[in-house]
Amino acid sequence: DWDKEPCGKEVTVSTKLYKDAKDFYESVDESLHDDTVMYEVYSVSSQSEPGKLNWGLTVMHPVKVNGECNMTRGHFHENMDCEEYYWCSKGTGLLMLMDEEGKCWCEKMYEGSLHHIRSDWAHRLINTGDTYLKVVACWPADAGHDYARIEHSGFTYRVYCEGKDIIVKERRTN
Ligand code: F6R
Ligand code: ZN
Repeated sequence: DWDKEPCGKEVTVSTKLYKDAKDFYESVDESLHDDTVMYEVYSVSSQSEPGKLNWGLTVMHPVKVNGECNMTRGHFHENMDCEEYYWCSKGTGLLMLMDEEGKCWCEKMYEGSLHHIRSDWAHRLINTGDTYLKVVACWPADAGHDYARIEHSGFTYRVYCEGKDIIVKERRTN
């Protein structure tokens, strides 16, 4: 009776389509279909209680929006005491981080890279490669997501790919 099945918790998937991600980008790409899949998040969520953990796998498709790299919406945690780990299992990308003063920077992501996200840092994934970027996350179940704060004062950089080059530009529009 030693060979038990692991965990057994239900994994749910949520899919972000281009039509729901359009306003993340500098401009609309007419060559992309509204239903183009940008990213999927597979997750196991617990009741929002201190001590419980959530787990997730984000799969970023290798899509560009007029040359701008595919990115997640990005968020602060609602509960600013909640930190997070990201671990890259496949692909190449950037983890864009921003502190509460609006200072913004990136960490390189590559197969096996581990990232610690402080509880007061906003975070966004960016797929800079031409393959899937797969990132595993673990965070407290009572963290919550504050997306509104990013919409009001968003990340100050935009990331583009031109051939093999990654170009980081200061953002002019939201
Ligand atoms: C959870 C977390 C990730 C993201 C996921 C999608 O705290 O950081 O699981 O939720 O990568 O990104 P968003 O939620 O910004 O669309
Ligand atoms: Zn998070």
